[in-house]
Amino acid sequence: MSGHTMRAVTIGEFGGPEVLTVAEVARPEPLPTEVLVRVHAAGVNPVDWKTREGNGMAGLQTFPLILGWDVSGVVEEVGFGVTTLAPGDEVYGMPWFPRAANAYAEYVTAPARQWARKPATLDHVHAAAVPLAALTAWQTVAETADVQSGQRVLITAAAGGVGHFAVQFARHLGAQVIATAGAARHPWLKQLGADETIDYSSTRFEHAADAVDVVIDLVGDAHDRTSTRSLEVLRPGGLLVAVPAGVSPELAAAARAAGVRVTPYLVEPDGTALTTIAGLIDAGEVVVEVAETFPLEQAGAAHTRGEAGRTRGKLVLTVAD
Ligand SMILES: NC(=O)c1ccc[n+]([C@@H]2O[C@H](COP(=O)([O-])OP(=O)(O)OC[C@H]3O[C@@H](n4cnc5c(N)ncnc54)[C@H](OP(=O)(O)O)[C@@H]3O)[C@@H](O)[C@H]2O)c1
Repeated sequence: MSGHTMRAVTIGEFGGPEVLTVAEVARPEPLPTEVLVRVHAAGVNPVDWKTREGNGMAGLQTFPLILGWDVSGVVEEVGFGVTTLAPGDEVYGMPWFPRAANAYAEYVTAPARQWARKPATLDHVHAAAVPLAALTAWQTVAETADVQSGQRVLITAAAGGVGHFAVQFARHLGAQVIATAGAARHPWLKQLGADETIDYSSTRFEHAADAVDVVIDLVGDAHDRTSTRSLEVLRPGGLLVAVPAGVSPELAAAARAAGVRVTPYLVEPDGTALTTIAGLIDAGEVVVEVAETFPLEQAGAAHTRGEAGRTRGKLVLTVAD
């Protein structure tokens, strides 16, 4: 043990934003093949507040728990055997998921290959907004659904963290993109590459879209049966990726009856995909939207803001300058 300590936001029980507490805890040390990263910024995702309240990935965690998976920072130290990164390298990542990554803290250790070099054109705040949301978008659009040029892709909650990346990746792959969001977000979503926009507050998307090859549903059945209603827009054999809450037996049965496919999905760490994503960002193909930043100590306020469900892009905690 080095005896070093660090600042972190910990929780000792599940509950509301008030359970998030700033504490001084032991600084982690990198094992062989791991990298110690000085965190400059930590992204905030819905899974953070879902886990905080006892849902999300709560069943996999132990107390005291440090929440957070998204990190952008600088390599401080490398463990034995690491040859791909060195102290001073700027990296970003979503390590360890669904195990705890402890990102709401000044230092994080994780396997070297779960990190990637930070996009050179982004500061740490914007880089920390990328990993979990962009990996989810990339792994659903490009890998799970294997979207092809010319296909029609419907993305629900397109203005959120995952959605704004999914719109851009689908467009990059040559798809025709249909996006649902509040009307105020439509001009921005068109700039990002949406061909059609649907205001979910005034129009049922199943009345406005059809012959869709792939639905990336980021809303779920808990809100207005959005996954189940998505089945109606798919062409025969089309695919629904049910991102927020997986596939219930009822949803699976409805998909079978409709002659379409449905799959659950859970994001996985992937340093190689993050390198691909960094390339798209640095080439100007993909932009990153940060709605608001909060200092680490105000993680609770960031959760409250996120839980309201109206975020355009991402929320980020600032940890170091
Ligand atoms: N399975 C996985 O591995 C995985 C990975 C990442 C995320 N997720 C889940 O996917 C969901 C989306 O995540 P996120 O990070 O993108 O969330 P987010 O950024 O918090 O989403 C906020 C956005 O949702 C939009 N929205 C809310 N209700 C809507 C509706 N009925 N129709 C259309 N848009 C609506 C809002 O748009 P307006 O302001 O215009 O209303 C806002 O822009 C969450 O449930 C999250 O937990 C799952």
